[in-house]
Amino acid sequence: MVILFEKSIQIIKQHQSETGAYLASKNFPTYQYCWLRDGSYIAHAMDIAGEYESASAFFCWVGRTIQRFSYKVDEARFRMAEGLPMGKDDLLHTRFTMDGEEVYVDDTWGNFQIDGYGTWLWALNEHIKKSGEIDILQKLKEPIEITVRYLELVWKLPNYDCWEEHPEFLHTYSLSTVYAGFHAAGELAHSGGFSHKNILVDNLADEVRKFILDFAVKDGRLVKYFCPPDTKSDTQLVGNNGVDASLMAVAIPYQMFMPDDPIILATIKAIEEELHRHGGGVYRYMDDVYYGGGEWILLTAWLGWYYTSLNQVDKAQALCEWIESQADENGWLAEQVSDYVLYPEYYAPWAKKWGPIAKPLTWSHAMYIILMKALNKG
Ligand code: BGC
Repeated sequence: MVILFEKSIQIIKQHQSETGAYLASKNFPTYQYCWLRDGSYIAHAMDIAGEYESASAFFCWVGRTIQRFSYKVDEARFRMAEGLPMGKDDLLHTRFTMDGEEVYVDDTWGNFQIDGYGTWLWALNEHIKKSGEIDILQKLKEPIEITVRYLELVWKLPNYDCWEEHPEFLHTYSLSTVYAGFHAAGELAHSGGFSHKNILVDNLADEVRKFILDFAVKDGRLVKYFCPPDTKSDTQLVGNNGVDASLMAVAIPYQMFMPDDPIILATIKAIEEELHRHGGGVYRYMDDVYYGGGEWILLTAWLGWYYTSLNQVDKAQALCEWIESQADENGWLAEQVSDYVLYPEYYAPWAKKWGPIAKPLTWSHAMYIILMKALNKG
């Protein structure tokens, strides 16, 4: 639906601050920030839609923000080398204010999430390939290097996943972003003519991939998370089978394994069987209680995006139509749809705590744009 496509671009523009940051959702008090994760996909969607200036402003904002907090990377290196404990805020945060300041409103909110740092490198590399804006590398050379040094340091540390949960584990989704980030950094180094000062990014990418093969594949498919290998405890898998819809990203867009790799095919089959409501949308994971655990627009678009990579256009088209049917009279897409929640009793407590579900959610609109373009529409 071309109207919703254009509306999505407009909504994203309305959510972009003049600093370049993208607000997650204007109407949802808890999401008045810019997440590196959401923002990088939004920038990617804007790139795909030909809105290069918007994406470029975001990447420059990320660059300035990372530079501001780069001292944390050196301090963390020191602490780790000395075996000193790491505090909750000693590592780089996952969300920032529009001015690139850290957010300290809720002590229970986990700040240490590595995935956004991999995702921004990936999205930046894609931006340069699409827009041809190679000059941006002059501005972003330092933040790219800081990010690479940071990821090299922390990628094997347990951290919060992309749903901001389970800080005790390592997460397959997050590691796939790190893989893609190292890979992108390698390509950027070639195109930008700068070096990563002895950091062999391609080797690091290979190492992450091997790590996933060694620890994140069970019964021939990927699992959502696992214990750090040296802790030797047995991980209780989520929903007892470890399926999480975010695992789609390992193939699309990060290509740590190709979309038709048997490991991916088996993972997608599990996602289809357990997390895709027939004729509807996609849940995050079986134990999800956030607002009762509804169907997520962005994950539904993601599954469609995956299908397009295998040329399964009809399946992708059906998901696209379902998303379109969820837009409200303003053309707004929510974070999740609550008609068939997994745990209805959990809806009210969340609504009481944080208000109605976030809408419009810019990340939902971004993934819709990506799906539309993957279907050659829009
Ligand atoms: C989601 C995150 C997301 C954030 C902002 C959270 O509820 O779990 O993935 O980054 O909202 O959209």
